[in-house]
Formats: sequence, C-alpha cells, structure tokens
Amino acid sequence: MKKLYGVIGNPIGHSMSPDIHNASLKDLGLDGHYHAFKVEEDDLEDAVKGIRALGIQGINVTVPHKVSIMDYLDHIDESAKVIGAVNTVRREGDKLVGYNTDGEGFVKSLMKVLDKPISELSFLMIGAGGAARAIFTTIARDIPKKFDICNRTLEKAKQLTESTPSFHNKEVLSIKEAEERLEQYDVIIHTTSVGMYPNVDDVPLSLQRAASSAVVCDIVYNPIQTALLKQANQKGLKTLDGVGMFVEQAALSFQLWTGREPDIEKMRSIVIGQLGGKEC
Ligand code: ATR
Repeated sequence: MKKLYGVIGNPIGHSMSPDIHNASLKDLGLDGHYHAFKVEEDDLEDAVKGIRALGIQGINVTVPHKVSIMDYLDHIDESAKVIGAVNTVRREGDKLVGYNTDGEGFVKSLMKVLDKPISELSFLMIGAGGAARAIFTTIARDIPKKFDICNRTLEKAKQLTESTPSFHNKEVLSIKEAEERLEQYDVIIHTTSVGMYPNVDDVPLSLQRAASSAVVCDIVYNPIQTALLKQANQKGLKTLDGVGMFVEQAALSFQLWTGREPDIEKMRSIVIGQLGGKEC
C-alpha cells in the first residue's frame, strides 16, 4: 500500500518539500506520496490525531509548529530535546517520535566546504532564533575552538549560549562588536531573516574585517545569493548558500522514514530550478 508523508506548517503553499520528496520517492522506486498540509495553530492537536488515525508514516514540521508539536508526540529524540524543537516526526509502531534534522543538515552541508575539523575552527553565529539554536547546539557537540553569538537582542543570544552548559568557549556580542572583531572567525553563519526576499539588499553586518580565509554561510535561500553572500564573493571568500542546509535536512528526514539515501544533487537542482536562481 502507498505510504504517506507530508509537511505541516502555515503558510505552506510555497513549500518545495513535496517536489524534492516526491522526486526522491519516485527515483528510488518507493510507493509513497508526500503532501503539504496547511495547519492553523489552533488545529495542531487535531492534525496530530489525524496523522495517527490516517497512518501517515512521516511528517516534516515547519513554522509555526516546530516547538508546540512536542506536546502531542509520544517521544522526543535527545538532540531534538536539546534544540527544543522538532522538524521531523516518524511513526514507530503505534508511537509518533519527534526528531530534528536542521542542525545535522546544516553541518553536513558545511562539511562539504570546510577543509579542517570543527574542533580546529572559530565560529561566529549571527542570530539567536530557532534555526540558530539547532545549528549552535549541533556544532557545540564537536567542541569548536570558539563559538560566539551576536544578535540584535543580546538576552536571546545569552539564553542560547546557556543551552550548552558543557561547552565553554563562547561569548555573546552585539552585532557592532562582532563586526569589529570579525577577523577572528574561520566560519561566519548567518541565521536571521535579514536579506530574505523581498528585502534582498539588506545585510546583517559588514564583512569588511572578515579574514581572507573565512567561510561565510547564509541559511536564507530565497534569494540563493543573498546580499551577504554577494559581499563575501566580492571579497573572494568561500561561501555556503542556504539551499545546502535545506536539502540536507530534507534528505535526513527522508532517510529516517525510508532507510534509503536520496540523491542530494538532484534535490538541490530541483530547489534551484524552483527558485529560478543561479548558484553562487
Ligand atoms: P527562526 O526560527 O527562523 O530562526 P526566529 O526564531 O523568529 O526565526 O528568530 C529570528 C532571528 O532573526 C532572531 O535572531 C532575530 O533577532 P532578535 O532576537 O533580536 O529578534 C533575528 N532578526 C529578525 N529580523 C531581524 C532584523 N531586522 N535585524 C536583525 N535581526 C533580526
């Protein structure tokens, strides 16, 4: 019988997840279908009951349900607990189990552009929201040389650093302070929505003082080449666009559900085709 998968969120109309998951199911000859479901915040509990009753095998969870869905699941995986959010649900027998593949997905895309292990590198994170938390807690597990966080609201950055009590080499900075000491960092990761369509000319900070060997990552993928990545390219820095994290987190969810590895490059070209963009 055809297995069912999907994504719940609101808004969800522009989600590219159905395209990449359905293409991967077809490619691997798996009899399944992936659908996007718009779910209002007040309907989340009923939606989870529906997932149970209809025998849906796997669900991705996106804004605004990543935190609130945790109340309705039977079990939460350890790393999703640390992140404090779930982006993937897998049916395990009669139980629904929550996972988070965002941090792992980012790290997998990052490892493709790094030439040193995380333990030998200094990181700067710009932003302290949900995506930042997933990335920070995942990278902190590998004990980088340093991992500082700058954010518009300092208190939120402070709360994020407190989520990894066993990792010590971290500081909270204002965006201005981070700009002034930018040459210290090997990897700069931007996780806010600054520069996202339609505000495509906005940058979160100036890269003027970045080291010439720095890697600049942006998790925004619409546009693929954000103003921050353009600035990095102009300085001759290595860059990582947000499509990498998007497809890697999707591939990890797909693997959790099917036990099969989808073709990442094909997923990437579908997303790039949909965005009508060029690679940077
Ligand atoms: P997500 O789950 O996508 O990470 P979020 O949890 O709402 O989204 O977090 C948004 C992040 O973008 C926060 O770091 C936010 O900064 P504040 O903590 O100060 O709110 C940051 N952000 C959003 N809009 C911003 C802007 N115009 N300038 C600077 N930072 C911004």
